[in-house]
Amino acid sequence: MSLRDKINMSKLPVHIAVIMDGNGRWAALHGHERVFGHQKGVEPVRNVVEAAAELGIGYLTLYAFSTENWGRPDDEVSALMELMVQSLNNEKDNLLKNNIRLIAIGDFARLNENVRTKLFDTINLTSGSTGLTLILALSYSSKWEITEAVRKLVRDVNAGVIDREAICEEEIEKRLTTYGIPDPDLMIRTSGELRISNFLLWQLAYSEFYFTDILWPDFGKEDLYGAIVDFQNRVRRFGKTSEQILEK
Ligand code: FPP
Repeated sequence: MSLRDKINMSKLPVHIAVIMDGNGRWAALHGHERVFGHQKGVEPVRNVVEAAAELGIGYLTLYAFSTENWGRPDDEVSALMELMVQSLNNEKDNLLKNNIRLIAIGDFARLNENVRTKLFDTINLTSGSTGLTLILALSYSSKWEITEAVRKLVRDVNAGVIDREAICEEEIEKRLTTYGIPDPDLMIRTSGELRISNFLLWQLAYSEFYFTDILWPDFGKEDLYGAIVDFQNRVRRFGKTSEQILEK
């Protein structure tokens, strides 16, 4: 039996965010270079995106490359960038066919021309899709994003666009890269690491976390279904008491 059958389709998470971790360890475990692990990590990306689209999940954010990842050895960074371009090339028709809209968050100024062009081309190509929104976090870190938002806010205060006393959560959210996207309901991290690693710090304030020891290249559709079933068994209180939640 598939765990797919245990999913309550009326209680699906609207937004799932994933930290895809463990490619390097997977490669070492199988006697390969780290880059081979990243190459192997493309297939689970395809499977998870396909499964999410098929279930009717609204938003799926994948942490594909962090600001801190720029500090990895040059050849690994180049290989990851090359993999992005290749994957976008290979998957663009699939995205269209599955009615998936691609968007991205991150510091794109740091991406090389080739990656940036491919990324924006695919974003434009899929902009009319009305199914799953796939969000690639690329050259992204939450502290970078929040710092940028603060900078914009100060600029807007100085320009008289907003009064200093009118600063509120909504005004901060308006200046985050994720504005308009509902906060993740569920955050999945693979490979047994129990960290957030500078990912969506603001947006994950009330998300449910799901950690699994499975290394990313081994993560499959069943694992996604399992995470969703687990999520559906949680009671989300958003700071309230259990009694208040049950009364609803
Ligand atoms: C973390 O594993 C993974 C990454 C930094 C890159 C994720 C990239 C992919 C899955 C490739 C394809 C992505 C797309 C969107 C097409 P790690 O290298 O930190 O593993 P380790 O912790 O075992 O060293």
